Amino acid sequence: MKVAVIGAGTMGHGIAQVSAMAGYDVWMYDLSQEILNSAMSRIRDSLNKFYAKGVVKDVEQVISRIRPTASLEEALSGSELMIEASPEILEVKVDIFRKAERLSERGSVLATNTSSLPITEIADSINEKGRVIGLHFFNPPQLMKLVEVIKSVYTTDETLNRSLDFVNRLSKKAVIVKKDVPGFVVNRLLARLMNASCQLLEKNYASMIEIDSAVKYKLGFPMGVFELADYSGVDVFYLVFKAMKDRGFRGDVCPTFEKMFTEKKFGVKTGEGFYSYPGKGIYKKPEIPKEAGTGFDPWLVAAPEVGEAFWLMKTDTASESDIDTASMLGLGYPKGIVQMGREFGLENVKDRIKKMAEITGKEEYSYLLQFLE
Ligand code: 3HC
Repeated sequence: MKVAVIGAGTMGHGIAQVSAMAGYDVWMYDLSQEILNSAMSRIRDSLNKFYAKGVVKDVEQVISRIRPTASLEEALSGSELMIEASPEILEVKVDIFRKAERLSERGSVLATNTSSLPITEIADSINEKGRVIGLHFFNPPQLMKLVEVIKSVYTTDETLNRSLDFVNRLSKKAVIVKKDVPGFVVNRLLARLMNASCQLLEKNYASMIEIDSAVKYKLGFPMGVFELADYSGVDVFYLVFKAMKDRGFRGDVCPTFEKMFTEKKFGVKTGEGFYSYPGKGIYKKPEIPKEAGTGFDPWLVAAPEVGEAFWLMKTDTASESDIDTASMLGLGYPKGIVQMGREFGLENVKDRIKKMAEITGKEEYSYLLQFLE
């Protein structure tokens, strides 16, 4: 089966890789040979790591299933499933979807990996709207087991079922997001965690290292909040949170994110973010000592995330078990965020959200509280 992956950046190259690992023939498109070469070299590095662990038996065989191309037409022609992972610009995506509708196999799935644009708006740009669906992967796609599956108002059952088969075949877990809300599930949780952490930084209530250490060592999150922002890209999160806010999400984007975006301090990819790295694109884990977080209560930043999880449940956007699965498989939490909140005690969660309201003076916290009643 021919899979077309449109865009070979951080997400695109990873999606192409996991599709090839699952046995699909993949055409991977991007604008220039240079971008494609860099994507292929990242794929090779990742496959070598998997080979060393016995996850992949034959690196060359997987590589041979991926055809990099700078021709969009070539990538799309006759494809039986497309995943678009291009920049988050509606006009760019619309152009790809229009071409895909014309060139791909009739009736095949046209998926977008968008994290910030409504699936329905993308579907609106083509005639066969029922073929469009959101398949939202997580960074790094090679390791994160979750895919959020988002239906537009038009998505047909056939498109949904074929997409679920595809996700299963990648050995990933699909969580169905029932409503096309800004940020879907995981980015709504992250928006609460990251903006709360950033607000405390701006208020000089806690330092970056204190917060990162406490969420890692007291809550068991796999990365600190600012470490994750750098890892996936401050630019990515800034644009996602801004798009969410523009579309009605009740939460401000912390000004520090905007400042760093303007200054091009994107994190690992530019060599400088909240932390510093040895060079552009060279990842070295930041040093976050365990003792640094002793005096900080990580529930101040995790409680708003629990509040958001309750928003998702009360608005029937996702079920409790799906939210918990999403936070474990999409964010690497040791337990689901709702379960963690329940174990900590919902009264305690509310108490921390009230404290965030006091510290920041922000209305979004009193808004969240009503969903925990
Ligand atoms: N391919 C293959 N193997 C890889 C790899 C890759 N791309 N990247 C890392 N690895 C391997 C490492 O070599 C290492 O192997 P080892 O155990 O043999 O040494 C192993 O994976 C673990 O890696 P690390 O030691 O570097 O680090 P961690 O133990 O912290 O694990 C992680 C890395 C899985 C990324 C973990 O830190 C994690 O789960 N972090 C959270 C990531 C997250 O939240 N992602 C979602 C972001 S939001 C998003 O994507 C949505 C978008 O819309 C914004």
